[in-house]
Amino acid sequence: MNSQQIVLASRPKGMPTVGNFRFENVELDEMQDNEITVEGLFYSVDPYMRGRMNDAKSYVAPFQIDQPIEGAVVAKVTASKSDNFKTGDVVMGRLSWRVNTITNGKGLYKIDTTVAPSSYYLGILGMTGLTAYFGLTDIGKPKAGETVVVSGAAGAVGMVVGQIAKIYGCRVIGIAGTDKKIKMLKEDLGFDEVINYKTTKNIKEAVAQSCPKGVDVYFDNVGGEISDAVIANINFNARIVLCGQISLYNSTEVPVGPRLQPMLLTRSVLMQGFIIGNYESHFPKGMEQLGQWVKQGKLKSTETILNGFDKLPTALLGLFKGENTGKMIVEA
Ligand SMILES: NC(=O)c1ccc[n+]([C@@H]2O[C@H](COP(=O)([O-])OP(=O)(O)OC[C@H]3O[C@@H](n4cnc5c(N)ncnc54)[C@H](OP(=O)(O)O)[C@@H]3O)[C@@H](O)[C@H]2O)c1
Repeated sequence: MNSQQIVLASRPKGMPTVGNFRFENVELDEMQDNEITVEGLFYSVDPYMRGRMNDAKSYVAPFQIDQPIEGAVVAKVTASKSDNFKTGDVVMGRLSWRVNTITNGKGLYKIDTTVAPSSYYLGILGMTGLTAYFGLTDIGKPKAGETVVVSGAAGAVGMVVGQIAKIYGCRVIGIAGTDKKIKMLKEDLGFDEVINYKTTKNIKEAVAQSCPKGVDVYFDNVGGEISDAVIANINFNARIVLCGQISLYNSTEVPVGPRLQPMLLTRSVLMQGFIIGNYESHFPKGMEQLGQWVKQGKLKSTETILNGFDKLPTALLGLFKGENTGKMIVEA
């Protein structure tokens, strides 16, 4: 069987380009006993993939040159010699960026497409939804009446963080990069205020104005100057959830910012980083809660879906240019 795949052609310096990827045709080995053939339906692109393009030690191994990129994929079983899967099952898991794949099915689980559209399992009912849920509730510990600020607010993680904070009875301020995103967050998702960091001259003042009682929880998806501006407004006993630093992922030098430690110290602030994998044993509980909120209409999802397997590199690069509203997905 023949399949198309996308491999890492070269490692980027700074912002990646489509030239860092290469499309190839491959001949797949015959499907053996206990194996299945799957065809990709929806492919997730995520900011952490940028880190995997570097040859650097991290919590996930780097992609290898001339080897396929891999990520979360929703796929359909098209043939099966396994007792665990049958033809027609829809599965989700970590797979190579290939149109067709032959696998033993390890790490794939069946999804119930009657509960929600299958693409939701890459976003609101998948890794990004769980990241928002566990980061906010376990580290942010929001209480009713508190002020929660979230950066990267119109992205896959951010849009869920803001909505969960509203469920907890908080005042929610988002920070995002376009007026269209701001309108969506306020009108569709119920955010109280949203700051456009690209058109606001003084973000520190804008945060102060939007948060007259200061910031109790800051869910940080972006880092850099946006975070410096939010942290300048941080309250006594506040919690900072260090989820992502996307503004720095393409930096070739470590930028110098203000020294934050004296402020964190004098205001007794907790700042904690986390990786969603830390919560793996709690995923079923998180999925159940997110699913319930989605069913009850308390949690809404927005997706940006690009059509065509060939759009995968463009979609990944688009994350760093703010081209997505909500979860960025490629439909094959
Ligand atoms: N800790 C974990 O386990 C974990 C898990 C998942 C994700 N994350 C992190 O969480 C963050 C959000 O991930 P996601 O999947 O939800 O991505 P996303 O927010 O859906 O997509 C990225 C968004 O980031 C914004 N952005 C890009 N460059 C920026 C910059 N220089 N300054 C400010 N904003 C910028 C863009 O929106 P604008 O138009 O608003 O600029 C873009 O749409 C990322 O940093 C990611 O690495 C961490």
